[in-house]
Amino acid sequence: MTNVTILDHPLLQHKISLLRDKATGTQEFRSLIEEIAMLMGYEALRDLPVEDKEIETPIETCMTPMLAGKKLAVVPILRAGLGMTGGILALVPSAKVGHIGLYRDPETHEPHEYYCKLPNPIEQRTIVVTDPMLATGGSAADAITMIKNHGGKKIKFMAIIAAPEGLKRLHEAHPDVQIYVGHVDRCLNENAYICPGLGDAGDRIFGTK
Ligand code: PRP
Ligand code: URA
Repeated sequence: MTNVTILDHPLLQHKISLLRDKATGTQEFRSLIEEIAMLMGYEALRDLPVEDKEIETPIETCMTPMLAGKKLAVVPILRAGLGMTGGILALVPSAKVGHIGLYRDPETHEPHEYYCKLPNPIEQRTIVVTDPMLATGGSAADAITMIKNHGGKKIKFMAIIAAPEGLKRLHEAHPDVQIYVGHVDRCLNENAYICPGLGDAGDRIFGTK
């Protein structure tokens, strides 16, 4: 699939394995989500535009590359996507942050919108949408539709774990979006949870349930 990158770095895989472990507690889980987001962001942002700027070193003046263009926007899908935001902001501290609130109906597993606040204007920004879990793909596909309806164009989506079904649905709904995934798992179960997955990401990040 074009525009789909599965990141297979050993450091990333190791940290994802720690996330999966049900013995991993809230504090460690939260730190791991942030570290993984930073490692994934490093790769996902390798095409950010740069331009040469004049800098005076202690030795001499030189032209040297700096990030160019409009500032990045990070858009976590609430709640669990919030856990990844700090990892991207550690890389690009000047990024703007938008929020999209979606929850899955427990019966139908379809997403329902409850919040949307995005940086304005958003047209010229590179937008990184974060959510650790890409299960049916409904939440990610809807969030990206909302961003496009607000004028967003250059959109990247980052998930730590994806189900094959969700990856296919998201790619088919938004073939122009660059998707970055840490691992593709086996399948969804009857409750639309990813197997083997890591359980409910939002509950594990925030210590709820
Ligand atoms: C989870 C997860 C994704 C969504 C993935 O959120 O963080 O947003 O489910 O499922 P999908 O691909 O089938 O749409 P949830 O709805 O549980 O909300 P929460 O983050 O507030 O717990
Ligand atoms: N949301 C989660 O948090 N985990 C899953 O496995 C599926 C959806």
